[in-house]
Amino acid sequence: MDFKKNPKTLFKKIEKMDKSEAREEIKALREGISHHDYLYYIDNRPAISDESYDKLFKRLRELEDAFPEFDSDTSPTRRVGAPPVSKLKKVRHVSPLLSLNAEMDEEEVWEFDRFIKRNTGKEKAIYVLEPKFDGLSVEIVYREGVFDYGATRGDGETGEDISENLKTIRSVPLRLHEKKEVPSLLAVRGEVLMHKKGFIRMNKERVERGEEPFANPRNAAAGTMRQLDSKKVVGRPLDIIFYEIIKVEGPEITSHWEALKLFPGWGLKTWEDNRKTSQFKDIKGYHSKLSEKRDELDFEIDGVVIKLDDFSDRENLGSRQRSPRWAIAWKFPPKKEVTTVEDIVVQVGRTGMLTPVALLQPVDVGGVTVSRATLHNEEEVIKKDVRQGDDVRVERAGDVIPEVVESVKARGRKRKKKFSMPDRCPVCGSEVEKEGAYYFCTAGLSCPAQLIGRVGHFASRAALDIDGLGEKTVRQLVEKDFVHDIADLYELTVDDILKLEGFAKKSAKQLHNAIQKTKKVRFDRFLYALGIRHVGGHVARVLAREFRSMENLREATIEDLEEIAEIGPEIALSVKHFFDQEENRKVLERLEGAGVKAEEMPSRKKESRFEGKTFVFTGGLAKYTRAEAKKAVEELGGRATSSVSGETDYIVVGENPGSKLDEAKKEKVKILDETEFEKLIGK
Ligand code: IVH
Repeated sequence: MDFKKNPKTLFKKIEKMDKSEAREEIKALREGISHHDYLYYIDNRPAISDESYDKLFKRLRELEDAFPEFDSDTSPTRRVGAPPVSKLKKVRHVSPLLSLNAEMDEEEVWEFDRFIKRNTGKEKAIYVLEPKFDGLSVEIVYREGVFDYGATRGDGETGEDISENLKTIRSVPLRLHEKKEVPSLLAVRGEVLMHKKGFIRMNKERVERGEEPFANPRNAAAGTMRQLDSKKVVGRPLDIIFYEIIKVEGPEITSHWEALKLFPGWGLKTWEDNRKTSQFKDIKGYHSKLSEKRDELDFEIDGVVIKLDDFSDRENLGSRQRSPRWAIAWKFPPKKEVTTVEDIVVQVGRTGMLTPVALLQPVDVGGVTVSRATLHNEEEVIKKDVRQGDDVRVERAGDVIPEVVESVKARGRKRKKKFSMPDRCPVCGSEVEKEGAYYFCTAGLSCPAQLIGRVGHFASRAALDIDGLGEKTVRQLVEKDFVHDIADLYELTVDDILKLEGFAKKSAKQLHNAIQKTKKVRFDRFLYALGIRHVGGHVARVLAREFRSMENLREATIEDLEEIAEIGPEIALSVKHFFDQEENRKVLERLEGAGVKAEEMPSRKKESRFEGKTFVFTGGLAKYTRAEAKKAVEELGGRATSSVSGETDYIVVGENPGSKLDEAKKEKVKILDETEFEKLIGK
């Protein structure tokens, strides 16, 4: 029985079939349907009519209903979605999902090529060129060839389990094809994309149904993939393109190009026009060709990715904090359009910062409707001399918030008066204070805008991730006087929530539960949630790893903080300042009183090879920034200090060393060059 070629669609009556016949036919149907899915969705060369395909599908479903003992998670009939969930599960990636350093200029790319050659010691570096897809980056893991799970990138270390949603995408194989040896473990990375045409059609339907349209195909893809009800994902115009191996066990693969060539044999769709080259002129050519062609493509792309081909060279180069040294993204120039400023308003953010914002006549900038754009600060508005009524050029570069680049002056037209910053907070009327180029409302949390921003940030996805506590709800909680600081959230009762617009018994209970559930929280997330200036997700993780608990961090001195690689004076000062403020201490105490407990981070297994050893660095190292070098020493249990003393054990000397080298010689400190240092740390 083979349904791959010219399948028959006349079948035996199910009542007359025995188990073994059914088992065999089910198996053949599943293989046949997967094969036709591949031809249709990946190869774009369907071999049978839609009608015959539907008949096969219907037959499989009937057989599965009649013989439930042959159920399988990888059956094509399972692409219809699963029961809805209340929240997406978190998953830890098999290995961190890095992101790419993005560059805008040719020179930077040239510099990247030089860096690669210098550090691999090779005269010729072979690169693979690919488009930079603008969708949702995902990881999919196959074990013994079977789809195990799929996840979003999240913070790079943990993502959200979106398996059920991914399984509804026809170009995601549920089982790897076996044209090539199937690895026992294969973790791949790809981009979920929405076809541009499908996006427009879907948005139209949304508007007709009275729903909010998505801003662009990327948001639509990302929003759809994070749906809690996978049934709603079925039939959305989504696709996937695979572009990276994260981990493989089984076949030996030595280069990226080799991996890309293996993908189709496993049923994994790749981009049809990737390129391999060692010539800089080809990189330039590929970039400019794609930049011209981008509007004609089915998917949104926003640049070119240049990847070193050889896996062992990649491994030797390693990665920086969050991005590999062996790849780079060369973005396309941003898209610009001209429109009119209808008004300039001033917004107040969670830190109290006042930001002038231009309200614009809506304009399409590269597929996204832009109706507001940031003007950053007063100096910018004055420098660009943007006024109400002006025509301005608006630019949008990838993810960045749209920006007003310049005012295009029309001669002879009478202009409105110059913009100036208000001397009172436009939300609460308190005094404003100037700090450098920025103005701040001085009212702290008694300014509703700051409070709303702060609580919203606390509840946001990357922070405590409180389901159902979006901006609209936060606004109501503040306006109705239920919440005066983040600690108040934990005192809300179901009855309080019921008084808010849009809540019924069930949803109020759900939100109450969602809040209470966050009482046990990972320390780094909690730290990020507090909204301390200069403490973003990454810094929060660094601090949490180092100090392990709130108690330790609260007592840290500026010196303790600055000791840590990656923590500079600005961050150190801001953290110290936060914990010194009476108001913040009180909120933390109340949070603790309410039972909120940041979970102590397990201490990292530290190597102690350098226990008791002190290093000093002087001059520039070729492969490491100072912070990275310091971190390498600390990870092995050593210390890095900034000046030479009798306690110094090693001095590592880079290019153009300073006077520290002379001092080290005097103190008879052991001198290492970069290669010796690398050897010592075991690279
Ligand atoms: S490779 C470490 N290849 O760009 C290498 N990424 O900032 C990581 N992306 O989140 C990925 N097209 O979503 C790779 N051809 C491509 C890509 C690509 C788009 C995205 C990916 C990632 C972001 C990196």
